[in-house]
Amino acid sequence: MSQGRILLLENIHVDAKKNLEAEGFEVELLTKALPEAELVQKVRGAVALGIRSKTQITKKVIDAAKGSVRVFGAFCIGTNQIALDEATKAGIPVFNAPFSNTRSVAEMILAEIVMLSRRLGDRNREMHRGVWTKSAVGSNEVRGKTLGIVGYGHIGRQIGVLAESMGMHVIFQDIAARLPMGNNRNAGKLDALLAEADFVTLHVPETRETKDMIGEAELSKMKKGACLLNASRGTVVVIPALAAAIKSGQIGGAAVDVFPVEPEGNTDPFLSELMELPNVILTPHIGGSTSEAQVAIGHEVSGSLIKFLTDGTTTGSVSFPQAEMPRRPGVHRIAHVHRNVPGVLRDVNRIVSEADANVVAQVLATDPSIGYLLMDLEDDQKASAALVEKMRALETTISATFLY
Ligand SMILES: NC(=O)c1ccc[n+]([C@@H]2O[C@H](COP(=O)([O-])OP(=O)(O)OC[C@H]3O[C@@H](n4cnc5c(N)ncnc54)[C@H](O)[C@@H]3O)[C@@H](O)[C@H]2O)c1
Repeated sequence: MSQGRILLLENIHVDAKKNLEAEGFEVELLTKALPEAELVQKVRGAVALGIRSKTQITKKVIDAAKGSVRVFGAFCIGTNQIALDEATKAGIPVFNAPFSNTRSVAEMILAEIVMLSRRLGDRNREMHRGVWTKSAVGSNEVRGKTLGIVGYGHIGRQIGVLAESMGMHVIFQDIAARLPMGNNRNAGKLDALLAEADFVTLHVPETRETKDMIGEAELSKMKKGACLLNASRGTVVVIPALAAAIKSGQIGGAAVDVFPVEPEGNTDPFLSELMELPNVILTPHIGGSTSEAQVAIGHEVSGSLIKFLTDGTTTGSVSFPQAEMPRRPGVHRIAHVHRNVPGVLRDVNRIVSEADANVVAQVLATDPSIGYLLMDLEDDQKASAALVEKMRALETTISATFLY
């Protein structure tokens, strides 16, 4: 018997469809995004909706989805295209794939460190213009040089491991306590890292603290001729300051993948003060854009959808209180989403105790607006299903689902 219909848009990787079908869901995979009016029609009756970055999940779409759709999957990194607060209020969690493309970014950075060290970008540009510059001037091996990683998270750590295998010394700086990988060393303060590194690569998130994190003052603290790489977020580096530091020779080269303002689409023009500067590699925010990352995203998000739809697991959701419980034999599981107001647990437990049902396990997680309760009851399927009906009738209930 089908576990329900899942609608996947925007040519999501076919592995996601296969994974969901293997769990008994009926999957409709469309190649394009749908405009709001069409999506409102199409989403009705589905149990889940998967999108990438072009589909807008607006309040209207959420209103149409309510009642049948239990979860939204963003098969990408960002979730700006989804009205997250509305989805949460409707009791629908959103899952994305924040780390599936991290290896792709790490590999690109490694390649760029070598490119900057050998000035390969300039040589390549010259050759395409018919200019032959056979010279060792300004060309170095990376072996024995020091790489400074700012932000030692999923991407930063992988770069640390890969760079060491090329014989680089690796130092890092992070605001959180991070276990060093291999022989990587914590530099402690940003200033200390900037003073020591031959290459500085940025892998921090976009926050108030990281906005304009690398400007004129920081660039002047770097070793003369050191290179800067940024594939994190465009707001982290002050581009005019970087351009000036390259022109003055303070900075020997840069690889930049992200910009404060980026073209909306491939037909829009790109402009930057960094254009045409020597030993500067510019790429159009493609650090994470590989086929392998697309496959990984397909697996990561379909996996999250399956865990939520079958077990009620919300761990990893970008928008929902996080709860999960291991599966136990001989129980039935109910998932209950409610407005976060006093007394809900009392009302739910009253319904359970009035039915003489035995609770085997319960997990409650809340955020300021909603509460999410997972409850395992001793084996009595009919009684458990009846309890769900009673929970639905509570004024504070957003949704109550009999999972198994
Ligand atoms: N160019 C691309 O295509 C691409 C692809 C994927 C990710 N990214 C970006 O790369 C960045 C890193 O991604 P990730 O997956 O490694 O993230 P992550 O969350 O795993 O790691 C970020 C690290 O930065 C640290 N940090 C936060 N604020 C800091 C600060 N002020 N100073 C020092 N360290 C700080 C955090 O503690 C964390 O360890 C993000 O900005 C992400 O958006 C870009």
